[in-house]
Amino acid sequence: MSTHTQKIIILDFGSQTTQLIARRIREQKVYSEIHPYTLDLERLKAMRPTGVILSGGPASVYDDDAPISDPGIYELGVPILGICYGAQLMMVQQGGRVEKAEKREFGKAQLNIEYTGGLFAGMETTPSHYQVWMSHGDRVEQLAPGFVVTATSAHSPYAALRHSEKPFVAVQFHPEVAHTLIGTDVLRNFIFGLCGCQPDWTMHSFIDATVADIRAKVGTDQVICALSGGVDSSVVAAMVHRAIGDQLTCIYVNNGLMRTGESESVLRFFREKTDLKVIDVNAEEFFLKSLDGVADPEEKRKRIGYGFIEIFEAEAKKLGAVRYLAQGTLYPDVIESVVFRGKAPIKSHHNVGGLPERMQLDLIEPLRELFKDEVRELGLELGLPEEAIYRQPFPGPGLGIRIMGEVTAERLRILRQADVIVLEEMKDSGWYRKVWQSFAVLLPIQTVGVMGDGRTYEHVIALRAVDSKDAMTADWSRLPYEILGRISNRIINEVRGVNRVVYDISSKPPSTIEWE
Ligand code: XMP
Repeated sequence: MSTHTQKIIILDFGSQTTQLIARRIREQKVYSEIHPYTLDLERLKAMRPTGVILSGGPASVYDDDAPISDPGIYELGVPILGICYGAQLMMVQQGGRVEKAEKREFGKAQLNIEYTGGLFAGMETTPSHYQVWMSHGDRVEQLAPGFVVTATSAHSPYAALRHSEKPFVAVQFHPEVAHTLIGTDVLRNFIFGLCGCQPDWTMHSFIDATVADIRAKVGTDQVICALSGGVDSSVVAAMVHRAIGDQLTCIYVNNGLMRTGESESVLRFFREKTDLKVIDVNAEEFFLKSLDGVADPEEKRKRIGYGFIEIFEAEAKKLGAVRYLAQGTLYPDVIESVVFRGKAPIKSHHNVGGLPERMQLDLIEPLRELFKDEVRELGLELGLPEEAIYRQPFPGPGLGIRIMGEVTAERLRILRQADVIVLEEMKDSGWYRKVWQSFAVLLPIQTVGVMGDGRTYEHVIALRAVDSKDAMTADWSRLPYEILGRISNRIINEVRGVNRVVYDISSKPPSTIEWE
């Protein structure tokens, strides 16, 4: 989508922190997009970038298969910032020389600034020095013609550079990471100072542009959307509805594996607080029946997934001619990740289990330019309540994968009651929003206990709470003992059939967040 008038294009050379560059820039209210370094020059021109950033990356510029971007970018007449590998590539492409450093520089370093303009406007020269984060093996040995040094560090005599006439700048350190304390200032100096951007990319302008796009694309056609009550699908629905009103129909499938009261509260919200057309399908029996006697985790997931598609498809067909499916694909899912050593770039995006192909639906993905925290911001701007926006992630297969082994009505009852207690205690103590997820898991074993004068032989509930940024990695949350104690006491006292509660202290990897 090229509706943004000012934008910074980042060419990705495979650094793990490339996404952070885009985030840091967007935080400054300037739109930024990531593309693989192989981006065609004509396409890049057509995007009319206000500035270009060459990211870092794991390769060495002199590797046989080193990633090299089109040198035509230096003729675009826009400011270019090279970061780490991007800095070395800029040097080589402009006629300088890069060599392997004797000592790999990794970690914190002190930057001595020699030139207080350009990227370092507003900063001071030595004796002041500034903490930055370095991570590179190669280093610049000979400057390309026209370039001068603007900062040094103990191991990098060329820690930062600028061209004396053209708007080309380069830094050996990573301004996008938090350890570079002046990182935000450096990026601000690039986008506002060198590129002349205005901080006008706001959620408000994003909504206006996206609404116009959706209207233009959809025309008078019909759109469907699977509503789950989660943040992404709620925000997608609100956004598409704002654009095309009643041409959107949402379908909510109750698969019988929802938390207590979840379906009711999701439906109540959308019915009472919005004008969305929502079809509500109660398929509890259908799903429980299809899970009857199935204990294998993958088989359970498959059956739940297929069941969803079957029901969704049947409901959608009843609506007649539908042309589009709106779904909540986020930016991290669509960035073409740059993979080296002969492998082709991968483009991964998920959709509702192959539905678009089967039903020949075109996709509308209004969130595909956004990060999760931006989706939350957008949701608030669209008027969704905080409760919906800050809901913890909940897996599509629901409680089905939190009951180890076979799913039965009785086991669902036990887990639901325990889950309510976990949620209540987490919310009351203010910890619900501090953790990424917190939930109960029902184990397929029974253990001995004693209650009153009698021996009991009952179920075990495992409590799981994790901290995470993106669910790719996670660590168990250090919940206060008092909260753990209260949750345990309440579950054992209030949930019939449970006599033991344990706390899961595994991180991901090697464990996963969910137990199945
Ligand atoms: P794992 O268990 O793989 O979970 O560490 C990572 C994150 O993904 C969620 N999750 C799912 N979400 N459909 C979903 O929509 C699924 O099938 C699914 N499985 C796991 C999980 O809750 C965690 O946030």
